[in-house]
Amino acid sequence: MNQDSKKKNAAEAAFDLIKPKLNKDTVLGIGTGSTTNFFIHALNSLNVEIKGAVCSSISSEKSLSSSLKILSLNEVHSIDFYIDGADEYNDRFELIKGGGGALTREKILASSSDKFICIVDDSKHVDLLGKFPLPIEVLEIARSAISRQLMKMGGKPVYRNNFKTDNGNQIIDVHNFPIQVPFELEEKLNNIPGVVENGIFSNRKADIIIKAKDTIIEVLER
Ligand code: 5RP
Repeated sequence: MNQDSKKKNAAEAAFDLIKPKLNKDTVLGIGTGSTTNFFIHALNSLNVEIKGAVCSSISSEKSLSSSLKILSLNEVHSIDFYIDGADEYNDRFELIKGGGGALTREKILASSSDKFICIVDDSKHVDLLGKFPLPIEVLEIARSAISRQLMKMGGKPVYRNNFKTDNGNQIIDVHNFPIQVPFELEEKLNNIPGVVENGIFSNRKADIIIKAKDTIIEVLER
């Protein structure tokens, strides 16, 4: 089975899992990326009656059916279910996210959610986070200064060319950066002046991981 079919299966399994729990007061959080797009497709194709959805990117907002109300985080009390993909996950449900550059809004939505359901294909599993280059959203003026700090920490920072986040910032992808203690590194990186957010999701990790393999779908809950 190819990777896209697995992503679709994981997304549809997430939709099946939450469908019975949806009602007119439900607020959904919708992430960003190709796996999440399959979830959006499933959501669009059924007439579900919910309060609305808060999206982590303009691109996801645009993909949502016009029959679903787009909400801002400021107008809701909390998010019932946040559904999003990941670039990597480990056995402790910690993640690397931000391949699509939406990490800051994704982390805000994940942190504001009661249940964070992460949808992945089995290729995203790692024992040690950091094979995937770690995305860091930075203020443009601090880009070089931050890159120097990252080199001192042992990483190889690469500026993401021709890319601006929905917040108007830039992304540095850090290569060769094995993440031994995700929780500590997440905090340390966010303490560098000019860093807006980094793509380690350890402080707010996933609650449920739906992982699609060739023939089965596993629902892992912590
Ligand atoms: C976007 C993300 C995505 O969830 C992550 O990049 C996975 O993407 P895909 O579902 O396309 O494999 O973090 O910022």
